[in-house]
Amino acid sequence: MSDILIRRAVLTGTGAYLPEHIVTNAEMAQRVDTSDDWITERTGIRQRHFSAPHETASFMGAAAGREALAAAGLTPEALGAIIVGTSTPDNAFPSTAVHIQAALGAKNAFGFDLSAACSGFIYGLSVADAMIRAGQVESVLVIGSEVYSRILNFEDRGTCVLFGDGAGAVLLEARNVAKSGPGLLSTHLHADGTLADILYVDGAVGRPEMTGHLVMHGKEVFRHAVTLLSGAVSEALETNGLSAADIDWLVPHQANKRIIDGVGKKLGLPPERVVVTVDQHANTSAASIPLALALAVRDGRIKPGQLVLLEALGGGLTWGSALLRL
Ligand code: COA
Repeated sequence: MSDILIRRAVLTGTGAYLPEHIVTNAEMAQRVDTSDDWITERTGIRQRHFSAPHETASFMGAAAGREALAAAGLTPEALGAIIVGTSTPDNAFPSTAVHIQAALGAKNAFGFDLSAACSGFIYGLSVADAMIRAGQVESVLVIGSEVYSRILNFEDRGTCVLFGDGAGAVLLEARNVAKSGPGLLSTHLHADGTLADILYVDGAVGRPEMTGHLVMHGKEVFRHAVTLLSGAVSEALETNGLSAADIDWLVPHQANKRIIDGVGKKLGLPPERVVVTVDQHANTSAASIPLALALAVRDGRIKPGQLVLLEALGGGLTWGSALLRL
């Protein structure tokens, strides 16, 4: 008996871009009153990349997107859409996505930015998945690209040591596949705006009187993170009738090693099945998951056919999960 085929969004390529300039914890300690020991113990972060002036969200996003298209063997002209998760766009408008469209020569693609802070990539995947399944588009580049170094308050040692810059991208393409075949199996999105004041950027072009700096009540965020993320992960497993033992890889948002370990532990996943890049990149917000995914695909850890669970939480609060088979 032949399998019934289902239209799914299948991941066919990944890409990554990191600025050349690396800033170690020791270098941060020359700038603010901190130490390598404090940062490493509390967060697992050892270094971060900070962008040069030309390395904007669109520049880095285009580089990651170009790599994802090349990996999939899709020409820019054949691309249907570009969705960019970013809190640090080049301009208030036009979107980072249209700058990337121009840089790639993806002249037949439409594009827009999506604001969900560190959950931006998961939100983007969810929107792309829905558009592909609805038959609106055949291929979508979902990109996370961030230059948090431009919104950090270097007077606040509690936040400025935690973030870095970078971009990651995935290409999703419509394919008719068997139920057991590849593709996005589910996404779950959540938000709680009553928690907006525990993690935010103080101002924007609509509030020019403010500083434009990232503000975070770290303990409060930490308190919510493991519970909400574990909930989103359980939801993904339940929806698909799976248990943690079925998951080949957890690719979590890379904010803090203690949060990553907490979620892994609640799930009962051994550390060797969790992709960790926070030590190398720090928190790159919406870029952190696609960056980690691209690196683990590139180094051969994540293989075709494997089941990969993604989760993120960020300002909003926003949070969510996505489950996909490669
Ligand atoms: N270096 C040295 N000391 C620092 C420091 C730094 N970079 N930042 C803060 N401290 C000090 C504080 O001043 C405080 O000192 P005090 O006890 O003398 O007042 C002490 O360390 C403890 O600060 P606190 O903020 O309570 O630390 P913490 O254990 O909560 O750790 C975080 C701080 C930010 C690492 C932690 O709260 C966290 O990871 N939160 C989640 C953040 C996150 O992931 N956000 C992104 C989600 S997308």
